[in-house]
Amino acid sequence: MSSAPDILADAVERALRSAVGAENAGPAIIRPCADPKFGDYQANGVMALAKRLGQNPRALAEKVIAELQFSDVSEPPTVTGAGFINFRLTPSFVTRQIAAATNDERLGVPTVAQPKTVVIDFSSPNVAKPMHVGHVRSTIIGDCLARVLRFLGHRVITDNHLGDWGTQFGMLIIGWKRFRNDEALQQDAIGELERLYKYVNDHKELRDDAKAELVKLQQGDAENHEIWQKIIDLSMQEFSKTYQRLGVSFDHTLGESFYNPMLKDVVEELKRLNLARESEGAMCIFFEDNPELKKTSPLLIQKADGAFLYGTTDMATLKCRIDQWHPDEIVYVTDARQQLHFKQVFAAARKWWEKPPDLRHVYFGTILGEDGKPLKTRDGTPVKLADLLDEAEERALSVVTEKNPTLPLVERQQIARAVGIGAVKYADLSQNRTTDYVFSWSKMLAMNGNTAPYMQYAYVRVQSIFRKAGATKADIATVSLEHAAELDLAKHILRFPETLHAVAEDDKPNWLTGYLYDLTGKFSAFYENCPVLQSAEPTRSSRLLLCRLTADVIKRGLNLLGIEVIEQM
Ligand code: ARG
Repeated sequence: MSSAPDILADAVERALRSAVGAENAGPAIIRPCADPKFGDYQANGVMALAKRLGQNPRALAEKVIAELQFSDVSEPPTVTGAGFINFRLTPSFVTRQIAAATNDERLGVPTVAQPKTVVIDFSSPNVAKPMHVGHVRSTIIGDCLARVLRFLGHRVITDNHLGDWGTQFGMLIIGWKRFRNDEALQQDAIGELERLYKYVNDHKELRDDAKAELVKLQQGDAENHEIWQKIIDLSMQEFSKTYQRLGVSFDHTLGESFYNPMLKDVVEELKRLNLARESEGAMCIFFEDNPELKKTSPLLIQKADGAFLYGTTDMATLKCRIDQWHPDEIVYVTDARQQLHFKQVFAAARKWWEKPPDLRHVYFGTILGEDGKPLKTRDGTPVKLADLLDEAEERALSVVTEKNPTLPLVERQQIARAVGIGAVKYADLSQNRTTDYVFSWSKMLAMNGNTAPYMQYAYVRVQSIFRKAGATKADIATVSLEHAAELDLAKHILRFPETLHAVAEDDKPNWLTGYLYDLTGKFSAFYENCPVLQSAEPTRSSRLLLCRLTADVIKRGLNLLGIEVIEQM
């Protein structure tokens, strides 16, 4: 089934060709009307085209309208402003689309005609350190983007680019050999590894020994290699617990160490191609030809002492991914502080390959405490992700208990898990990711507002209508949309596909949370104005069908955010 914007775009493009000739016409840009007063969708771009052709934009818009041919999709279009063409969908078109969506498992969302191969590099914590709230954003945003792109039909490859190589291993190995506490290691592996690292780091007299251990590791010493592997395994076990709680998985976990054997060759290749050159003993990629980057320091790929760097690994990773997976796009999800790094890596890639994949840095801001400073625990240390999730579930349990005190504890706990984890995810995904946001338990667990508990509760409420109706699913009745609130809800349901495309286009999950929040608002208006169970047939069935579609869209929408629905609350 084609969505309204697709049908409109097609019709406007044809009309443009008739109006100005195929050689002048460009693609049509269909957007939701900023003000619903003017209609549901508007075609932009006529203004720019008129300017280019030296014509009057309003006159050109009228000419395009005269050429427009579509059956009953829209009421007669109108022109506003300096040449916007506005469309209002007809009730009969909306009715047909709703009926089609009801019969469609994918709720009217077609898969893309040209699937792309997209690599998503996300989560990527550093071993021997606890995952902190900064990694929560990468994990949650990356997982959501993967889900949405997959649902749209793209071939998605998720890769956890673990920080499992680097100078910290010299200190960790010394710590492991001399100061390790096996009991502590068993109880809290990452906590103990962190202690060992800090201990060695704090004792300057151990520095030289740590360096020597690092060199041994880099030269392939068997004992050190084994310790290094153990440290990774222990860290991974802890990370896996968190991933399981979050319902996140990866196709690959290829850490930095995987690329280690390739670094030397990558540096040689970059030198050979004259992309890298020596400066003060170090190997660097300069960006003199790049207006934005020419004033920044170059991308360092080898230090004077021969050591490789973060950037070297990223160049090798890129080559490996391109050679192995031939991706159309690679998306990196990290915090905003790495912007310069990725700009440089991407600019270097454009020098290296004639046609590199579309490289995108999906960055995000910092999570702030209520004091406006980066979120910390009371003693000033970064908040650990596992503790945060524990607290979310505890707090959710009291919310659930308040709502439903008689439910057995195990059931309340199960619900609290979905609500608590869902609340943390939703709070994160509903932000414009590029800005910082203030972390607030009371806001994210509020039963009112743009929150996970509110959305999950909305789902429960809609489901309870079916329970009362005595059927779990409405029959496919003839849909009839008479009341304005009914039509408004139906049109919003039909905007699910374009919303998902917008999420994919801008890498912005908050388009989806905003859409779902509006959906519940429109559902409430519908439910207040249009009796469902008390109506006579066929209205009753038709309205039940709208309820069912609303529930299905909420469920699918939350699923794409990585959030579970619950059947009671
Ligand atoms: N491990 C890094 C960190 O915690 C993130 C890695 C992101 N991915 C990449 N290809 N550089 O900051």
